[in-house]
Amino acid sequence: MTNLTSPSLEDLLIQARKAAQHSYAPYSKFRVGASLQLTNGEIVTGTNVENVSFGLTICAERAALVRAVSQFGPEIRIAAVAIANLNGAASPPCGACRQVLAEFILPDAPVAFPLAAGVRTMAFSEVLPLGFEMKLK
Ligand code: THU
Repeated sequence: MTNLTSPSLEDLLIQARKAAQHSYAPYSKFRVGASLQLTNGEIVTGTNVENVSFGLTICAERAALVRAVSQFGPEIRIAAVAIANLNGAASPPCGACRQVLAEFILPDAPVAFPLAAGVRTMAFSEVLPLGFEMKLK
């Protein structure tokens, strides 16, 4: 299944694959890369960084996001996301990454990720329909 909407998503996927080559994944051997297109035009990538304690592992998507805020500040907005892995496997973003992306991403932003049959692209609002929001009365 390939359902890419624009050539720039293709570019983002290429960047995500490149980032996955830097993965530190000695425990799972699952090498993931993510790239974020920001509304300021910048592309920021990240990869998964594992830890011997396992639970402290950082996913590629969150690594990219933290890098984007660190480089460009808290006003960043994410216009598109691409995720890739070097294992020929499906890798939709995990639930934790979806919630963290929700903080900075535009609801209509396309999110492209590998599924068994190819690359799938969905709007972020479909990827995380009911993210946590804190609305105090
Ligand atoms: N991983 C990611 O990088 N992104 C996800 O959304 C899910 C999982 C990483 C974490 C760990 O290093 C490896 O994939 C196996 O779970």
